[in-house]
Amino acid sequence: MQVHFIGRNGDRVTASPKPGDRLLDAAQSVGLPLEGTCNGQMACSTCHLILHPDWFARLPRASIEEEDLLDLAPDACSTSRLGCQIVLQDHLDGLLARLP
Ligand code: FES
Repeated sequence: MQVHFIGRNGDRVTASPKPGDRLLDAAQSVGLPLEGTCNGQMACSTCHLILHPDWFARLPRASIEEEDLLDLAPDACSTSRLGCQIVLQDHLDGLLARLP
């Protein structure tokens, strides 16, 4: 499967993760500067990504804990998610997200 990212410089980058991989790992696999400092423990928000609205709508809702962390993330918006909480499945093939 493929997922696409728009970097802070506007360049589009494509990753080829496997179903079950996290969106955070897909971004890091192509060298995007997404720290993921707590490695998915929901203690940082350095994995913040902004989803394209079409793809945001296909994701399961964020947990309360994720929402609370996103409230603290710089440049968070209505389609923000934590990349460590998005587990990629086949129906997300083609997903598009950008770095904040
Ligand atoms: Fe820390 Fe996602 S890696 S919240």
